[in-house]
Amino acid sequence: MLEIVGRSPLSGHVKIGGAKNAALVLMAGALLCSDVCRLKNVPALADVTKMSDILAALGVRIQQAGDVIDIDARDINTTRAPYEMVSQMRASFFAIGPLLARCGVAEMPLPGGCAIGARPVDLHVRGLQTLGAEVTIESGVVHAAVPGNRRLQGAAIHLDYPSVGATETLMMAATLAEGETTLHNAAQEPEVVDLANFCRAMGARIEGAGTNTIRIVGVDRLHGVDYDVVPDRIEAGTFLLAGAIARSEVSLSPVVPEHLAAVIAKLREVGCTVVSDTPNSLRVLAADRLTGVDIQTQPYPGFPTDLQSPFMSLLTICEGSSVVEETVFENRLQHVAELQRMGANIRVKGNVAVIEGVPMLSGAPVEATDLRASAALAIAGLAANGTTILQNLKHMDRGYDNFVGKMQALGAKIVRKQLDS
Ligand code: UD1
Repeated sequence: MLEIVGRSPLSGHVKIGGAKNAALVLMAGALLCSDVCRLKNVPALADVTKMSDILAALGVRIQQAGDVIDIDARDINTTRAPYEMVSQMRASFFAIGPLLARCGVAEMPLPGGCAIGARPVDLHVRGLQTLGAEVTIESGVVHAAVPGNRRLQGAAIHLDYPSVGATETLMMAATLAEGETTLHNAAQEPEVVDLANFCRAMGARIEGAGTNTIRIVGVDRLHGVDYDVVPDRIEAGTFLLAGAIARSEVSLSPVVPEHLAAVIAKLREVGCTVVSDTPNSLRVLAADRLTGVDIQTQPYPGFPTDLQSPFMSLLTICEGSSVVEETVFENRLQHVAELQRMGANIRVKGNVAVIEGVPMLSGAPVEATDLRASAALAIAGLAANGTTILQNLKHMDRGYDNFVGKMQALGAKIVRKQLDS
C-alpha cells in the first residue's frame, strides 16, 4: 500500500520514461523480424516483464539490461500464446498480427487488461479476415490462419472505430502481406506513429501513420534495428497534474509537448500556466484560484481517456462545476466512488460525471480500481488534508515506472509500506 501525507508542496524536475503502450506493441512488433531488435528507453513495468515472458514462451530469446531489451525472434517455436499470460494483459493480444503475418498461423487467447469495459477484439478479427485470414474463436482462444501456403493479402480495411490496438494489429500484419493495404479510420495516437516508425526502421513500407489513413505496402522480410521508445505522454500528463493539484511548479522531460496538446489546453483553461522551455520539456505552475472545466474523452488528438481519472482528481478541488464525459470506454468511472471517500462532490449518470469543486479533499483509505485510477487517487492524496492510504498497487506497477521514487524526488510525502499490495 501507499501512504500519502497531503498538502506538501512539490518542486523540481521529473525524468519521463518510455511509453508503456508503445514499448508493449514494439515488443510484439519485433516478432515480424527474423533478426535481433534492440529496444531502448523501455520502462521497468510489470506489463513489460509479462510481455517478455509471453514472447519467451513463443521461443523468442530476450535479454534485458536496464532499460534496453534485445529481442531475438529468429526462431519461433510455437504460434500458440500461453492462455494464462495473455488473458491477463490486453496488449499481448496485439501479437496476433505479427505472428500471423510471419508464421501464417496464430492462436491467441482472448485478452484481459484493466476492468474498464468489455474491450472486445472484433475489429482486430474482422480486419485480419479482410486480409485473407480464416479466424475462429473456440474456448476463449482466437485461431487465425492463412489458408493454403499463402501470405496475407493486402486489402482496404475500414475500421468502425479508430481503435488503437486494431490499428496496430492490422498495421503489423500488413507489413508482411502481399500487396497494398489501406487502413481507413485508423487511430492517430503517438504510439501508433511510434510503431510505424519502428516498422519502417526495420524496412517496412508505411505511410500516413498519425493521420486517419495509413497505407502499407507489404515487403518480404524485415531486418533488425536499434530503436528508442517514444516518451510516455500519459506519465508526463500525470506529473503535470500532480504539480497542478499540489499548487506547485514541476518540470519534466523528455516529452513531446504536442502529444499533450489537448491536456495542456485544459490545464490552461483551469487556470494553470504550462510552458515549454525547450522543445522536449514542459513545466506547470498552478495558480491559487483554479476553476472547473468540461472534458470529453476522445481518440487522439482529443483528450486522452488515460488521463481522464487523474484530471478528475484535479477538478474535485477546482471552483464551480465540471462535467467529465467518458466516451472511449463504457466503464471507466470506477474511481469516482474512491474520490467520494476523500470528500469529493461528484454525481455520475451513465458515462458522465458532474463534479462540484470542494475547497479541500480529506485523506482516506482508498483502493485503486484500475491502472490510471491508481495514479488519480495518489495525486488526489497529494491535495488532501491528512493521510491517504492507497491499496491494490498491482495496477500502478503495471504502468508507472518508479512512481513513488519520482514523487519523493519532487518532495511528496509518499511511502510504500509493503512491496506486494
Ligand atoms: C489502448 C491503450 C489504452 C488506451 C486506449 C485508448 C494499449 C496497450 N492500451 O487500448 O491504454 O486507454 O488505447 O486510447 O495500447 N473496441 C472494440 N472492438 C475492438 C477494439 C476496440 O469495440 O476490436 C472498443 C473498445 O472496447 C473501446 C474502444 O474501442 O471501447 C477503444 O479501444 P482501443 O482504442 O482499441 O483501446 P486499446 O487498444 O485496447
